[in-house]
Amino acid sequence: MNQPLRTDLQTITQVTHWTDALFSFRVTRPASLRFRSGEFVMIGLPDQTGKPVLRAYSIASPSWDDELEFYSIKVPDGPLTSRLQHVQPGDPIILRPKPVGTLVHDALTPGHRLWMLATGTGFAPFASLLRDPDTWERNERVVMMHTCRQADELAYGRRLIEDLHNDPLIGELVQGKLFYYPTTTREPSPYRGRITDNLSSGQVFADLALPGPLDPAIDRAMVCGSLAFNKDVAALLDSFGLSEGSNASPGDFVVEKAFVGDGV
Ligand code: FAD
Ligand code: A2P
Repeated sequence: MNQPLRTDLQTITQVTHWTDALFSFRVTRPASLRFRSGEFVMIGLPDQTGKPVLRAYSIASPSWDDELEFYSIKVPDGPLTSRLQHVQPGDPIILRPKPVGTLVHDALTPGHRLWMLATGTGFAPFASLLRDPDTWERNERVVMMHTCRQADELAYGRRLIEDLHNDPLIGELVQGKLFYYPTTTREPSPYRGRITDNLSSGQVFADLALPGPLDPAIDRAMVCGSLAFNKDVAALLDSFGLSEGSNASPGDFVVEKAFVGDGV
């Protein structure tokens, strides 16, 4: 019963290691798979037990891409990622083709300025949304705030942003609209500090020369990080008058877990 269906098996096509603890990989895309940029699916690796470990993963590639991309942590003893971190092109991977999630444009009411707020691998859904023309057609400005403890953890996001500017499809759309604000909290880098602190102090507005503070009449937000981060950001957005939305009831901001923490 839990044996993966043959149709759930895809093939790894490319693997890139960004740090000792972070990597991205691309896989073949089932012809029938349709998803909205920002959604996640369940993936796993075939094993002998017939009950493979499946984990939620945000699709990092945009919905127009022929392949699927994922951006992943390597948890040393993690049931999935202790094996997944060793995959090579040509290896099989299980992909349950049932995309779901709340980090989608449909769950937001129309606004003018979209804030993408991510920590760690919470960047993954935004790697999809940033490459989706819809994001740029719906918003006059998009601010991507990505925060990690150390500077090398920003590498995947930084490269993606650089590539966006040179992309033949998206490059022109993002000109003058994209504001990128990568920060670190535990070692020096050009911008420092937690997303919550930079939003509440106004530092991000000063650094990017953007009008502030957050205003429910113009600002919308998508949030993806640890449970503690999501909770604190949601409370902050709420204090500025933004209200949380969902697929069933679109609102000013939406939240998704980047992972489920220990003991939660
Ligand atoms: P697990 O047993 O799942 O995790 C062990 C511990 O490692 C956790 O308790 C937690 O403390 C820590 N941990 C797990 N994942 C992360 C993470 N991403 N960042 C920091 N610490 C973590 N993971 C990704 O790497 N990329 C994604 O795009 C992604 N999307 C997700 C989307 C959703 C909606 C959810 C709920 C989770 C997502 N995850 C993502 C987490 C993912 O499902 C797994 O937890 C992760 O791949 C580790 O799997 P594991 O079996 O090796 O270890
Ligand atoms: P900090 O170094 O100050 O804890 P983690 O690896 O713990 O998930 O953290 C990833 C990044 O998110 C770190 O830069 C961390 O900052 C930041 N962070 C963690 N928890 C919160 C929170 N509740 N609010 C804002 N930022 C957070």
